[in-house]
Amino acid sequence: MSTLSMLCLSACLLLGFSTSASATTEDSGKKTYDAACAACHATGVAGSPKLGDKEAWKARIEQGKEVLYTTSLKGKGAMPAKGGRADLSDDDVKAAVDYMISNAK
Ligand code: HEC
Repeated sequence: MSTLSMLCLSACLLLGFSTSASATTEDSGKKTYDAACAACHATGVAGSPKLGDKEAWKARIEQGKEVLYTTSLKGKGAMPAKGGRADLSDDDVKAAVDYMISNAK
């Protein structure tokens, strides 16, 4: 009895967790973007692709999401690693990239 209810409990928790996690990924992506990326990407500082600029993002998105994750985490040209925010987790940065990609489609 107790083993069974434990199993159900963890399965239910897991299910509940994964649904709410995807909702927060989007929120945290925007939050991270506003806090760490907008400084350059809102106006295109130093040639950065602007948020929502479909032309600027098209070729970048074509490289594939993994490439964009890697450049964002490691930096590229005038783009500092993690946008200069070494305190951000890799997942925060990836969520911000997802947010930027979803705005460029
Ligand atoms: C100091 C200014 C600055 C900040 C802050 C910044 N970026 Fe950038 N970003 C750039 C520049 C400049 C480029 C263009 C780099 C290039 O193509 O040489 C760029 C390019 C990118 C690209 C495209 C990379 C590619 O491979 O084409 C992504 C994705 C990106 N930034 C994500 C982010 C994210 C996510 C954040 C916040 C965590 C962020 N940036 C913060 C300046 C910035």
